[in-house]
Amino acid sequence: MTGGGAMRPILDMNAYRPGDSRTDSVERRLANLGAASVLFYRQPIEMAEAAGAWMVAKDGTRYLDFYNNVPSVGHCHPRVVAAVSEQIARLNIHTRYVVDVVDDYLERLKATLPPELENVVMTCSGSEANDLAIRVARAATGGTGIIVTETAYHGNTALVTEASPSARRRGSLPDWVIAVPPPSCAHHGTDIAGGFLASIEAALAEFARRGIRPAALLVDTIFSSDGIFADPAGFLRPAAAAVRAAGGRIIADEVQPGFARTGDAFWGFGRHGLAPDMVTMGKPMGNGFPMAALAARPADLAAFCEGTGYFNTFGGNPVAAAAGRAVLEVIEEEDLQGNALRVGAGLMEQLQSVAARDDRIAGLRGAGLFIGLDLAAPGGGRPDPDLTVRVIDGMRARGVLIGAAGRHGATLKIRPPLCLGADEAGIFAGALEAALREARG
Ligand SMILES: Cc1ncc(COP(=O)(O)O)c(C=O)c1O
Repeated sequence: MTGGGAMRPILDMNAYRPGDSRTDSVERRLANLGAASVLFYRQPIEMAEAAGAWMVAKDGTRYLDFYNNVPSVGHCHPRVVAAVSEQIARLNIHTRYVVDVVDDYLERLKATLPPELENVVMTCSGSEANDLAIRVARAATGGTGIIVTETAYHGNTALVTEASPSARRRGSLPDWVIAVPPPSCAHHGTDIAGGFLASIEAALAEFARRGIRPAALLVDTIFSSDGIFADPAGFLRPAAAAVRAAGGRIIADEVQPGFARTGDAFWGFGRHGLAPDMVTMGKPMGNGFPMAALAARPADLAAFCEGTGYFNTFGGNPVAAAAGRAVLEVIEEEDLQGNALRVGAGLMEQLQSVAARDDRIAGLRGAGLFIGLDLAAPGGGRPDPDLTVRVIDGMRARGVLIGAAGRHGATLKIRPPLCLGADEAGIFAGALEAALREARG
């Protein structure tokens, strides 16, 4: 079901490799984290502080952050800092006690979700939320099969790693996971909805051949690690209907597109007019305070809890709830969804004019402040991951942080904080054009 040449594992993109620059502080980090260390850039940056869309390195260099989608309402937002500080000074305990801030928060969060998703299980990471979602889907459907996209990343637990093709450096997927091509023009031409539906139907037929009942389609609703595919709005619906007709659930992984990033909706699935059976969320949820969640229908969660209870010591603690509540308030009061739409549209226009002058930009697409830009050999040639790394390094030299995505690691993943200003969008477009010019030489 997959194809198209070797895949670059997600953690290897734009990453430090053994043998690259070894300063004392890098040596110290490697000694502490060992083989599990993942650092950006061949010459890693030592960071000191951050505010808004800007980060400041230990040597005083300022960087415009177009990579980090966790501090989504702005690095160190004072409202979130104050909420966390006040709550941790008063009470921080787990969910075995009733504490108002937790239920206040959950009610506010649920107001953004489809009404039938009445229950929310709080976890500490997106991985835990997806792990639980798979287990709930299995308990609720009696099936085991999971469909994902071919460069999907859904997290790091044993179960979720098996359903995350881009996390794997070697080995094949287990028989209960089928990876389908992403909803791209490269795979499906102009009929994205029909092509994606056909892939899903083929996966369902393959499960039937293997004697495996489907439990869920687990899908990042903007296909972040596949290379960012947002259009045409609504293309997910026929695929979702096919999975449901076969008895499976739809799990929308909103860890990346959620919390207003796409501008036109609060959640990525909103763009598709889709009401998922389960929603998982994380990263921007606490603006850096570690928190994540699964939203589900009561009957599905009850089916799982009949066999296995669920308790998460740190998930849903009052400090997390205070952080999460402050994030929702800031998104609303500062109209960050509207800002994502407006500044994202302006940024897209500027990138389109850069693309009109440079035939190595082979694709440009997205929604709000989540944009993918493909780099390839001139005139629509093969994806060019080496050019992508040179551009990423060239932008870093110009004070802009950006990462890569996609099967080949040749798509710039443009994902700044939602508080981005039009002037900062302009800085990004200028740095991109200069880095592309330099990379030509
Ligand atoms: C789409 C998606 N789902 C899930 C996860 C896992 O989240 P966490 O790293 O919080 O476990 C990630 C992390 O990058 C992600 O991008």
